[in-house]
Amino acid sequence: VPLQPYNSFGIVARAQHLARIASEADVLALLADADWRDAPKFVLGGGSNIVLTGDVKPLVLKVEIKGLRLVEETPRAWIVEAGAGETWHDTVEWTVDNGFPGLENLALIPGTVGGSPVQNIGAYGVELQDRFESLDAIALDTGRPFTLDAAQCAFGYRDSVFKHVASGANSFGLAGRALITRVRFRLPKPWKAVMGYLDLERKMAETGNFTPNAREVFDWVCAIRRAKLPDWRQLGNAGSFFKNPTVTAEQCADIIARDPKIVHYPMADGSIKLAAGWLIDACGWKGKSVGNAGVYEKQALVLVNRGGRTHPVTGGEVMTLAKAIQTSVYERFGILLEPEPVVV
Ligand code: EPU
Repeated sequence: VPLQPYNSFGIVARAQHLARIASEADVLALLADADWRDAPKFVLGGGSNIVLTGDVKPLVLKVEIKGLRLVEETPRAWIVEAGAGETWHDTVEWTVDNGFPGLENLALIPGTVGGSPVQNIGAYGVELQDRFESLDAIALDTGRPFTLDAAQCAFGYRDSVFKHVASGANSFGLAGRALITRVRFRLPKPWKAVMGYLDLERKMAETGNFTPNAREVFDWVCAIRRAKLPDWRQLGNAGSFFKNPTVTAEQCADIIARDPKIVHYPMADGSIKLAAGWLIDACGWKGKSVGNAGVYEKQALVLVNRGGRTHPVTGGEVMTLAKAIQTSVYERFGILLEPEPVVV
């Protein structure tokens, strides 16, 4: 099965077998089948946060579980549930347009609902964990359904229990062991716009609208993203390719002494977050290419496929470019950038 249509980089790779999962019952039927029960499995959502470096041998489970509904309204929140196979952006728009605001800062993030807790997606001052109620999943070894709350998901910056591999004595980690079927969001009442991010403050000043409603914030976020992030349908990419690194105040002072313009944000715990895009940009990578792997002109944190659908970038080229960037950022700043997408 060709996987090019199922990854946002547009990398060519094949899966030996792919099963479409449209319901919980589909998972259970598959696990009841002696041919598939013990086969290694790979869960695929929107394919917008992966780099395929070769053919995928495990059975690919393409999650297509649908459904959007308000499950509960309390004086303090709306609880909305979405099937893991729903498109993330459409889900955000549906909640905003149906009077359940709170996800608007996360508009236009590529991918599916099922992927959102895996990497705790975040943008413009809101992270999924701020709006998360619980999720349903099915254990791929036993077929047992289970529910996790936010604490059990162990959310961190672009991180959760679903990104960690359990090994040996360390039983923490659900990577490869569970299929998320549904996610519930807690959208607090009364709604209040989250406007702390500089780009959003600029929109308020530009438009003179200092009391935007949720739909207006949604539209602003879409406009901001369209202006500086490539649409993967036109130019393949996997969003930010590296996480923003954190350093100690001392490390940061050293770097500022050498590069006074470095973009940095103090964190609540005293550490300092640096803008990885700035570090890469400062090393001169913006607009550069290695083979068909390129660094996006308007945002150095995004690596793109310059070969389109016909001569697409390979996972190897993407990783070669990523390593070259890591090396130059390390040599200049002493910081090792950590890739954000999952390398398959
Ligand atoms: N910058 C540069 N040069 C560049 C890129 C950025 O100097 O080429 C500077 C900008 O001027 C800005 C700062 O770096 O002052 C931060 O840039 P931006 O606002 O674009 O945000 P980011 O930190 O690069 C993060 C997330 C994005 C998210 C935005 C908005 C990560 C890894 N990335 O990017 O998430 O949309 O903030 O909240 O945390 C993703 O994870 O895939 C993603 C796109």
